[in-house]
Amino acid sequence: MKRILTGLQPSGELTLGSLIGSISQMVKYQDEYDSFIFVPDMHAITIKQDPKLLKERIRKNVALYLACGVDPSKNTIYIQSENLYHANLSWVLECNTYMGEASRMTQYKDKAKKQVNATVGLFTYPILMASDIILYDADYVPVGIDQKQHVELARDIAERFNKTYGDTFKIPSPMIPEVGAKIMDLQEPTKKMSKSADSYKGIILLLDDEKTIRKKIMGAVTDSEGKVYYDACNKPGISNLLTIYSSLKNIKINEAEEYFKDYNYGNLKKEVADVVVEKLLDIQTKYNELINGSELDKILDRGREVTNRIAKEKVEEVFSKVGLGRY
Ligand code: TYM
Repeated sequence: MKRILTGLQPSGELTLGSLIGSISQMVKYQDEYDSFIFVPDMHAITIKQDPKLLKERIRKNVALYLACGVDPSKNTIYIQSENLYHANLSWVLECNTYMGEASRMTQYKDKAKKQVNATVGLFTYPILMASDIILYDADYVPVGIDQKQHVELARDIAERFNKTYGDTFKIPSPMIPEVGAKIMDLQEPTKKMSKSADSYKGIILLLDDEKTIRKKIMGAVTDSEGKVYYDACNKPGISNLLTIYSSLKNIKINEAEEYFKDYNYGNLKKEVADVVVEKLLDIQTKYNELINGSELDKILDRGREVTNRIAKEKVEEVFSKVGLGRY
């Protein structure tokens, strides 16, 4: 059985973009693939975090994965920092990655610009991500379009390692959703909806209440043409609303266009808000049942055990091939 693997940083509150770009794909494919989903908490500390908040968000992420439909009987669910092999492998991979290729990562360039003192961790982060992926021989990595370059780096590093030391890693491919690979900020529809944005006005959080969700969608920036159709360049706001609707309804963009063709913008927004509210309130009901229960710990204990076993074997193989220690 082929394996899929993904993770969502607990560096901020999960958004509608996180759900559509990543978690929904895991839910969609969990019957077909051996599925791994984790919390990349070590990634989160590449930017300063409040330790107490970070701990809370790790747990929140796991509860949200489950509330969104990730089935713990079909997925291995774990926390990155509870498996020391991720960082161990990452070091070996860093020693097999060129400064030039790491410097080309556009997300690093964007994030570094926003920091007064960007950390070395922020720079090497895509290599840790490569380690997260190839440590488990993942075949596919369900991600939004913004992570495609990182998965491609993981491919390059894995290929180089295999060439130098012999066949060791599977070569992973990104799995990008056909609709919803980049959900945009409702206030600035040419920018990605991001959990680390400065203002939450254009961002729908998975745990926003109904009134807030409706207010944000009704206030979405659109255009002055007054006609509903998809054109991401000239009508980014309307196109984003159509994308959100299509993703949540699991239909094609042109089907949504056809459905809304005689709508005015106000009515379009109202119906998009209805669909988002229905989806998120259902998630929130499940989330509230899970967040304080003991089920999460049992699931995470199992994930820690399974992944440590797999990772130990892989890292010992790598260390042996590279010539480290007495492996
Ligand atoms: P992160 O935490 O920024 O985002 C988590 C996932 O959600 C997707 N996503 C979106 N998709 C569509 N539209 C949006 N507005 C949107 N916002 C977020 C992202 O593409 C991503 O798939 N480096 C990763 C976390 C990571 C990881 C991994 C992922 C660490 N190790 C190994 C996969 C495999 C990140 O920062 O994603």
